Amino acid sequence: MEEIKCWCGSGKSYEECHKAIDDKIKQYEAKGVEVPPRSLIKTPEQIEKIRKSAKINTQVLDLVEKNIHEGMSTEEIDVLVKEFTASQGAICAPYQYQGFPKSVCTSINEEVCHGIPSRIRKLKNGDIVNVDVSTILDGYYSDASRMFCIGEVDEEKKKLVEVTKECLRRGIEAAQPWGFVGDIGAVISEYAREMGYSVVRELGGHGVGIEFHEDPFISHVGKKGTGMLLVPGMIFTIEPMINVGKANVVIDRYNGWTIYTGDGKPSAQVEHMILITEDGPEILTY
Ligand code: MF3
Ligand code: CO
Repeated sequence: MEEIKCWCGSGKSYEECHKAIDDKIKQYEAKGVEVPPRSLIKTPEQIEKIRKSAKINTQVLDLVEKNIHEGMSTEEIDVLVKEFTASQGAICAPYQYQGFPKSVCTSINEEVCHGIPSRIRKLKNGDIVNVDVSTILDGYYSDASRMFCIGEVDEEKKKLVEVTKECLRRGIEAAQPWGFVGDIGAVISEYAREMGYSVVRELGGHGVGIEFHEDPFISHVGKKGTGMLLVPGMIFTIEPMINVGKANVVIDRYNGWTIYTGDGKPSAQVEHMILITEDGPEILTY
């Protein structure tokens, strides 16, 4: 009898490859659980391509980390990102994405995300800045961001940055195979609240890889055991935006992009892209 090869292109027989996962998904689906469509479960070939894209994305962030300094304009960060990315044969995903005018997002202090690099905006002593880098390599997308402290940063902002990193660490730890999307937001919002901070609700993480933004939406304020089932082969970002003050945000009425805290208090964000494996979450953007 001819054996059926797995749909994922691994070359293995279906029985030895995705059958156990597919069967388990079906069991959850029968119980009424929201399960990912097959399009969200990456094949080994796709995972390798996305991994390569993520590697370049990490190199870009490393380069920014090495070069960022007081007095640098955010436009200079944009040029650095653009030129290095091009030198690697890759493309900056933000550029002209839904009309976004630059190659990277740079968000300072009370800017929550989607800050637009500018020639006249220079990094000042005491600023905290998020640099959000997204790369397309060979058609495959990657996405990650880091926070940088410029010069002497006050205790409040320093603590905010540390808490935000810990939120991401806990969120990643909560992203386990056969868990739920809601598990991630549950631990993030619980920890943020414990530390006296609030969590932005309007924006979240997202599936990524084949497209820039895929399902599922990863809320950072979820409830344990709710939302889409997490299945090996899924790739998505976790990117909590944590505010010192109130959770609400406003959008820039002139550029239509930049998101600010409603109360003008600082916000921080860090982002990793993770692959759900059978053994747990794997960070692709280290
Ligand atoms: N990198 C952002 C994200 O996490 C998206 C930026 S889109 C842009 O989804 F157009 F604003 F760059
Ligand atoms: Co993202």
